[in-house]
Amino acid sequence: MRDAYIVSSVRTPGCRRNKGALKDTLPDELMAFILGAAVDKVPGLEKGAVDDLMVGCSFPEGEQGFDVGRTAGQIAGFPLEVSGATVSRFCASGLEAIALSAMRVMTGWSEIAIGGGVESMTYVTMGGNQPRPNPDFATEHPEFYASMGITAENVARRYDISRESQDEFACASHMKAASAREENRFTEIVPTPAVRYVQQPDGRNKKETFIQAVDDGIRPDTTIEGLAKLRPAFALNGTVTAGNSSQTTDGAAATVIMSENRVKELGVKPIAKLKYYTTVGCRSDEMVVGPRYAVPKLLKLAGLSIEDIGLWELNEAFASQSLYCLRELGLVDYMDRVNINGGAIALGHPLGCSGAKLCATLLANMQAKGVRYGVETMCTAFGMGAAALFELCD
Ligand SMILES: CC(C)(COP(=O)(O)OP(=O)(O)OC[C@H]1O[C@@H](n2cnc3c(N)ncnc32)[C@H](O)[C@@H]1OP(=O)(O)O)[C@@H](O)C(=O)NCCC(=O)NCCS
Repeated sequence: MRDAYIVSSVRTPGCRRNKGALKDTLPDELMAFILGAAVDKVPGLEKGAVDDLMVGCSFPEGEQGFDVGRTAGQIAGFPLEVSGATVSRFCASGLEAIALSAMRVMTGWSEIAIGGGVESMTYVTMGGNQPRPNPDFATEHPEFYASMGITAENVARRYDISRESQDEFACASHMKAASAREENRFTEIVPTPAVRYVQQPDGRNKKETFIQAVDDGIRPDTTIEGLAKLRPAFALNGTVTAGNSSQTTDGAAATVIMSENRVKELGVKPIAKLKYYTTVGCRSDEMVVGPRYAVPKLLKLAGLSIEDIGLWELNEAFASQSLYCLRELGLVDYMDRVNINGGAIALGHPLGCSGAKLCATLLANMQAKGVRYGVETMCTAFGMGAAALFELCD
C-alpha cells in the first residue's frame, strides 16, 4: 500500500447556527470556497490535477443536497472532469471523506484527491427537513432514534458524570478557545467570504459580502457560576444544558491528499500522513461513547498506546460524553494534549464538517508543536465511533 500525504488542510470559521456570521451563506458556496482555498495553499497545484472530491455532510439535502461534493466542485471552478461525491457517516462524515480520499491514493486509484466536509445547520437543521424513522424498527427499537441530547443524559446518569464536572469542562473549552483566538493560533482558518441580507430604509433587502475570519461561538466571559444557572436542555431533571453541549454551527473544511509521486513532482512539503482510520458500533441510546471503543481499536491497528499520542482532538459533542471517554481511555492524565485550543462546546460542531475541521485543527497544532502522532476521534449518531491516526512528516 502506498502512503497518503496530506499537503493542505484548511477550514472556514465555525459560526453559530441562525445567529452567526455564516447564517445567510449557502453551504455549497461555503464548500466551494474552502475547496478552492485548499488547492490554493499548495504551490503549483492546478484544480484539474485533482481526481475526485469527496465531501462529508450529515444531512445532504435541501441547500446541501444535489450531491454537494459535485456541486461545490463545479461552483469552485474545478474542470468538468473532476468528479465529486457526498458521504454521510453523520458526525464523522468529514473524516470519512478524508479517509476515502486517502484510501484512493493509497491503493493507486487516485494520485490527488480532496476530502472535506460541510454542514449548514442553519439551512438544514438537526434531523434533516423531513425525518422519517422506519415505523416498524422504531416501534421495536425506539432507543435507536433517541436524540443526541438524551444519549448525553443517559451517559451522565449511567456513568456518574456530575453537572459540576460537565460545566467545568465546558468552561475550560471556552477559556482555551478564547486564548487561542486571542493569540491567533487558529492558523488553519482561511478568512471566508460570507453574505448577509441587510434591510434598507425602503424595506428591501440588500445582499452584502464580507469576510469572516474567526469562530463566533466562543464566549470568553463564560463562568462556572453562569453555566450552573442554565436549565437542562433535553430532560426535566437532567444535567445537559446549552452551555455544556456542542453548539450547532455552520462551517466547511477541506484536505488535499497526494501520492508520493505527486509530492515529488510538485516539490511540495507534505504536512502529515493519514496512517489509520477505523470505525466501530456501540449502543445507540448511548451513542456518544463511540470514542471509548474507536480509540483502542485504532491504537491496536497502529501498534501504539495512549502515551505515544502527542495531541488529541476529541470532538466535544457533549461534556458528559467527553468526560466519560477521557476517563475510560485513561486520557485524564494527558489533558494537556487534548483539545488544546478548545473543542466543539466553544467552537461549534457543524456535524458533517466536523471530522474535516478537526483534521485541519489537529494538523495545524501538530505542526506548531512538532508532535509526531495525533489522533482525532468522535462519536457518531445511531451508535458509532470513529478515529484516525496522523503522523507528522519530517
Ligand atoms: C443544547 C442546544 C439545544 C441549545 O441550543 P440553543 O438554545 O440554540 O443554544 P445557544 O448556543 O443559542 O445558547 C442558548 C443560551 O444559553 C446560554 N448559554 C450558552 N452557552 C453559554 C455559556 N457558555 N455561558 C453562559 N450562558 C450560555 C445563553 O443564554 C444562550 O443564549 P444567547 O445566545 O442569546 O446568549 C443545542 O446547542 C444543541 O442541540 N446542541 C447539541 C447538538 C448535537 O446534538 N450535536 C450532535 C452531537 S453528536
